[in-house]
Amino acid sequence: MNGIERVGVVGCGLMGSGIAEMCARAGLDVIVREIDAAASERGRDRLVTSLDRAVASGKLTEHDRDAAEAGLTFTTDLADFADRQLVVEAIAEDEGLKTDVFSMLDKVVEDDDAILASNTSSIPIMKLGIATQRPEQVLGIHFFNPVPVLELVELVPSLMTAEETTDRADVFATEVLHKRVIRSTDRAGFVVNALLIPYLLSSIRMLESGFATAQDIDTGMVEGCSHPMGPLRLTDLIGLDTTLAVADSLYAEFKEPLYAPPPLLSRMVEAGLLGRKTRRGFYEYQQR
Ligand code: 3HC
Repeated sequence: MNGIERVGVVGCGLMGSGIAEMCARAGLDVIVREIDAAASERGRDRLVTSLDRAVASGKLTEHDRDAAEAGLTFTTDLADFADRQLVVEAIAEDEGLKTDVFSMLDKVVEDDDAILASNTSSIPIMKLGIATQRPEQVLGIHFFNPVPVLELVELVPSLMTAEETTDRADVFATEVLHKRVIRSTDRAGFVVNALLIPYLLSSIRMLESGFATAQDIDTGMVEGCSHPMGPLRLTDLIGLDTTLAVADSLYAEFKEPLYAPPPLLSRMVEAGLLGRKTRRGFYEYQQR
């Protein structure tokens, strides 16, 4: 298994739960850290629902679901990550919070060969690396939502990441998680979000200006370009808060108007209309 058998995942939101699920399904010993018992419970529910969905759709046997569940432990204490060989951080897109997590991981993870990875969409990996004493072990491993369904992983080494770290992460993502890997330099948004976010922001500007309805914008891209879902529904899936945070990072890095978040996006985030996870964004949802 590429020498990585003990994994830690920090954060069990949309992305963290998917990452933990895939690692547990690969037979790894996975510890998931959330900030408190209630957040852990919500994360576990999300993860178990997804495992059940995989069973219902014939992607996973009941035996393998039970084995995956048995491989998962939840904690609120990062100190429990002392023996982890790989840690993937998947908390909110907040640079201060993320650098705090990396500096704490640096102190608690005992294995000098351990890889400390971030699922960030847009925060420079360099900033996370230099929050530790081992920037050569730090890189971005960026998954896509829904993690169990989408095959892509972006690997993002910083200027300080050792080639061996990136190669080990590559083998892990392809051979253990069965993902398809692309590599990106350490630039805000990496490959996919640098292209995707301006498109999503354009659709919000289009809606905001009264150019077309949400339904027609989405139908246009689904039926006209064969996308699996339209840009506004996709923004709801990603989360409006995450979309805004990534747009802010892209704008801060490149200062290009195409990355500037439209006011409607900011107002909706302020109102707590975050998309599927709050059951209301550009659309309303019965379930998260
Ligand atoms: N494990 C394994 N398979 C699962 C699963 C799970 N937990 N949950 C669902 N599936 C499978 C289903 O069995 C189904 O498989 P099938 O096609 O072989 O029958 C497939 O996933 C699709 O599931 P559904 O039929 O329930 O749903 P839809 O067909 O409506 O598809 C969707 C939903 C997968 C979300 C699709 O609309 C899609 O791919 N949308 C685009 C998503 C996208 O672009 N995501 C990227 C966002 S960007 C990002 O994440 C980066 C961040 O940094 C911003």
